Amino acid sequence: MRVGVLTGGGDCPGLNAVIRAVVRKGEGVYGHNLVGFRHGWRGVVETEMVDLTVASTRGILPRGGTILGSSRTNPFKSDDGAQRALDTLRRERIDALIAIGGEDTLGVAAKLGAEGASVIGVPKTIDNDLSATEVTFGFDTAVQIATDAIDRLHTTAESHDRVMVVEVMGRHAGWIALHSGLAGGADIILIPELPFDIAEVCERITHRHRKGANFSIVVVAEGATPAEGTMTLQSGETDDFGHVQLGGVANRVTAEIKDRTGFDTRVTILGHVLRGGTPTAFDRVLATRFGIAAIDAAHESAFGTMVALQCGDIVRVPIEEAVKELKLVDSALYDVATAFFG
Ligand code: F6P
Repeated sequence: MRVGVLTGGGDCPGLNAVIRAVVRKGEGVYGHNLVGFRHGWRGVVETEMVDLTVASTRGILPRGGTILGSSRTNPFKSDDGAQRALDTLRRERIDALIAIGGEDTLGVAAKLGAEGASVIGVPKTIDNDLSATEVTFGFDTAVQIATDAIDRLHTTAESHDRVMVVEVMGRHAGWIALHSGLAGGADIILIPELPFDIAEVCERITHRHRKGANFSIVVVAEGATPAEGTMTLQSGETDDFGHVQLGGVANRVTAEIKDRTGFDTRVTILGHVLRGGTPTAFDRVLATRFGIAAIDAAHESAFGTMVALQCGDIVRVPIEEAVKELKLVDSALYDVATAFFG
């Protein structure tokens, strides 16, 4: 078989571990021929390819990013993009295409699959917002980086009697904020699933300081939104998939806390730092398991499926089902965190 691989959407630690596993078993065990498409769907539309061999993928397991490059290209955004992608796959005699990505990349995979492409999906995103899989690789690394940052902010907050506001990525899901906030001992966590009232946030901080605390840590998910009529926010640009660019809500939260409480308040926006660097051991293992499962699915022509983690096992689910709805934070876990607020 000739098997293509692409990585689309925002990168995350663990992508290279998947590529390595696909190639190692694809070439080493099945004797398949592997090629990589550069920069996500853009490489398929533009026929930008590189050979992937056991030799060329040696040593990439601990490397962050993706050796194939990534983009947020949506072939369905232009008139002939999807047709050009299908033409490339036919012309280059690609028997199976392994698409590693999040909601958007896999959404394209599902649509192209419906038009005849032989696609296998692998879920990735630091946001951990794909409903068909319990966890995506990249999430554990992002949470660890955010937790390390919160730990560091704690010590300097204590020294200066400050309120530290720290913003983390996660788009419209609060998983990273909640997990890193819990692990880092945050005093308040704001997530997109629960619109916040800034007056209540300030009240909690004031209450905490009245009880004797001299500093506070506030973790804000980039997608956190104020309850209607409580605070205004600016909105950013949109990408090929119509997603608005997030980031910066913590600046507004910080200014409000400073004004309303009078406490010395500082902001740290972690942003893309959460996506950089080497994957944790957990993410390397999950990514490797996904990669092996994906090449097995390709070998068995189980097209239209995505590999997923369910109850500790790697299973196959229909790609369309996997991208149907986002997995958002459940209130039970948020309740655990609220015991430590204010
Ligand atoms: O989906 C992953 C993610 O890192 C989100 O958490 C974030 O909102 C977005 O990507 C940022 O995208 P970009 O790298 O295009 O700025």
